Amino acid sequence: MNAPVSPSVLAKKDVANHFHPYTNLRAIEKDAPLMIVEGDGIEVIDDAGKRYIEGMAGLWCASLGFSEKRLGEAAKRQMDVLPYYHSFSGKAHNVVAEVSEKLISLAPTQALRDGRVIFANSGSEANDTAFKLVHYYHNAIGKPLKKKIIARAKGYHGVTVASASLSGIPTMHQHFDLPIDGVLRVSCPHPYQFAKDGESSEQFATRLADELEALILREGPDTIGGFIAEPVQGAGGVIVPPPTYFAKIQALLKKYEILFIADEVITGFGRTGNMFGSETYSLEPDMLTTAKMITSAYVPFSALYVSGKIYQACADASATVGVFGHGYTYSGHPLGCAIALETLKIYEERDIVGHVRNVSPAFLAGLQKFADHPLVADVRGVGLIGAVELAEDKQARKPFDPKRGVGAFLVRRAQEHGLILRAMAGDMVAFCPPLIITEVQIHELLTRFSKALDDTTTWLKAS
Ligand SMILES: Cc1ncc(COP(=O)(O)O)c(C=O)c1O
Repeated sequence: MNAPVSPSVLAKKDVANHFHPYTNLRAIEKDAPLMIVEGDGIEVIDDAGKRYIEGMAGLWCASLGFSEKRLGEAAKRQMDVLPYYHSFSGKAHNVVAEVSEKLISLAPTQALRDGRVIFANSGSEANDTAFKLVHYYHNAIGKPLKKKIIARAKGYHGVTVASASLSGIPTMHQHFDLPIDGVLRVSCPHPYQFAKDGESSEQFATRLADELEALILREGPDTIGGFIAEPVQGAGGVIVPPPTYFAKIQALLKKYEILFIADEVITGFGRTGNMFGSETYSLEPDMLTTAKMITSAYVPFSALYVSGKIYQACADASATVGVFGHGYTYSGHPLGCAIALETLKIYEERDIVGHVRNVSPAFLAGLQKFADHPLVADVRGVGLIGAVELAEDKQARKPFDPKRGVGAFLVRRAQEHGLILRAMAGDMVAFCPPLIITEVQIHELLTRFSKALDDTTTWLKAS
């Protein structure tokens, strides 16, 4: 079924010289990467001219698709006027001032609107900054022992030493000697995999909150500085929390004065049908990480919201030390700022959040139709993000042997049918299309997925 493709010249060049991220390096030497050379709306085009619906918006990020001319024009304008400047030691520039004001005006809570935004170039760096600020803040307020950070199994927070340590995905730790000390782990709110038989979603949420409280008490509340969570866990398998989960968790964080970092690198800017996942789940974070859709992924850029409480403590401490000793050469890079400003303008002008709300029912209902398929054990989603989880025996919640690579096979078949999706550990297939997708395109995406699912059924029967 999967006829071997002869690698194109481009692909040969790539594998001979390029150390690929998140890739089985030996496998790609043999298989050759899919070489994408052009983008058009929600589609990308390979070096042989074949088109694919990008069902993952790249890496959960290309919200406006792959050919938004206004972003290219905004980039050119900025490059012509001020290609680079920084914000260290008493400097700033016009676009960083404009985008800071815009972002603060969009912040989902008053605590964040009373605060500041601090810039970096990626979600990983923004979470790394949040990690450092948990330390800085607690030193600043005279609680130097309150530093441990609690993160969740299957969480994804990036790849720097700190953010990979916060992440709860084993392959991010193996051979890297991670996680570092000071990171504690609790379970993730994934009912299909972890709720006990007969346990309601309310009981499941209560059990997870009890687990968190037991950990806090065991370690000592005075040693726990932060808790980090994605509103919807993305790379861990599109894990949509039970309705009361975050209310229970937040009550504990408040009780024990633990800073809440909401990692909105995927959910920020419309993905869940609100500007922020924090609105969808009534979160009140002390820090909130954004990246990806802040520029529709057209240039690397990220912003960490920091509450007024944390900012004020850091400001006092920096005055004592003489400087706030953190910042990247490219923090608030003019190009990122200009593209973020234009992206946010487009979101407003086109009411992108309203659009997500309009098309989301077709997307979620379309996914839900696969729930009766013999291979599909669980379907979940919110807004324009979803997942289909496969199982060998769905009644018994028995997964396929990972060695069979069922999810990976399905994704390869989808690619043959002109649809790019992503399979994650546990044979979960994720969907996260560009936010500009229309209902007609959603229908086409689901039709192609359906064909890939049928191919997978045939293959499994034959093997
Ligand atoms: C929730 C979340 N946080 C952080 C990151 C890391 O962002 P980046 O890859 O830009 O460093 C990602 C990347 O997918 C993510 O999904």
